[in-house]
Amino acid sequence: MSDLHVSYAENRRIADGLKPESDEDWLIVAGDVGELFADVERTLRQLRARFRKVIWTPGNHELWTHPSDPVALRGEERYRALVRMCREIDVLTPEDEYARWEGASGPVTVAPLFLLYDYTFRAPGTRTAEESLKKAYDAGVVCTDEMLLHADPYPDRALWCRARVAETERRLAALDPQIPTVLVTHWPLDRRPTYQLWYPEFAQWCGTVLTQSWHTRFRAAIAVYGHLHIPRTTTYDGVRFEEVSLGYPREWKRRGTAPRPMRRILGPGT
Ligand SMILES: [Fe+2]
Ligand SMILES: [Fe+2]
Repeated sequence: MSDLHVSYAENRRIADGLKPESDEDWLIVAGDVGELFADVERTLRQLRARFRKVIWTPGNHELWTHPSDPVALRGEERYRALVRMCREIDVLTPEDEYARWEGASGPVTVAPLFLLYDYTFRAPGTRTAEESLKKAYDAGVVCTDEMLLHADPYPDRALWCRARVAETERRLAALDPQIPTVLVTHWPLDRRPTYQLWYPEFAQWCGTVLTQSWHTRFRAAIAVYGHLHIPRTTTYDGVRFEEVSLGYPREWKRRGTAPRPMRRILGPGT
């Protein structure tokens, strides 16, 4: 699952009600638990008490420096503090050794990846990142990250993204080539899921072209992502992609059915 957005009371109630089906269940949390540091900690701690293993990767919302958050850390420092907090509560992060799922449909390496975006999923009809960003501002479609997601000590988010991609690529390339992977990201590894966005200008905050072949190159059995708030299952190049977001109450209410916040990724019936 992803995009729990627990700052919404209705979503918090859903998070409070999440339960495993068995004592062996793992839970992947692919970012956007919330904005406030204490909310993220409370939610992950509670989930860890219920699931055998919890695997988290940050979304943009965890990385915001929200004016109402007493934890005022920015950028890389904020990310490192989130990682330390997760280690204290025994939640796996992108900085830890990847997990090996040995249950049904295994063995599989489950790799939570923190990659960010670099404005290369450009708005239609634009040729540079600058043009693309200008088009978004002109259309009034601007991600709040522009105000709240700081890249310190990197000069900007695109450079932070490229550093993350380079480091992550090295780690993935060093994995056992015999074992398939589950690649877990907040922002989709491939651009194609963003073609569903209502506002195409928003895609520039949704990933990077640098990862577009990773699902095949790194043997993904499944690519898990969120962020788009368009929950669905698709197949690209023979690889199953799962967008596992809950999304905002106004979004899941519009779908007209009770939200099903958890998707089965591996195990019986997959
Ligand atoms: Fe989200
Ligand atoms: Fe997000």
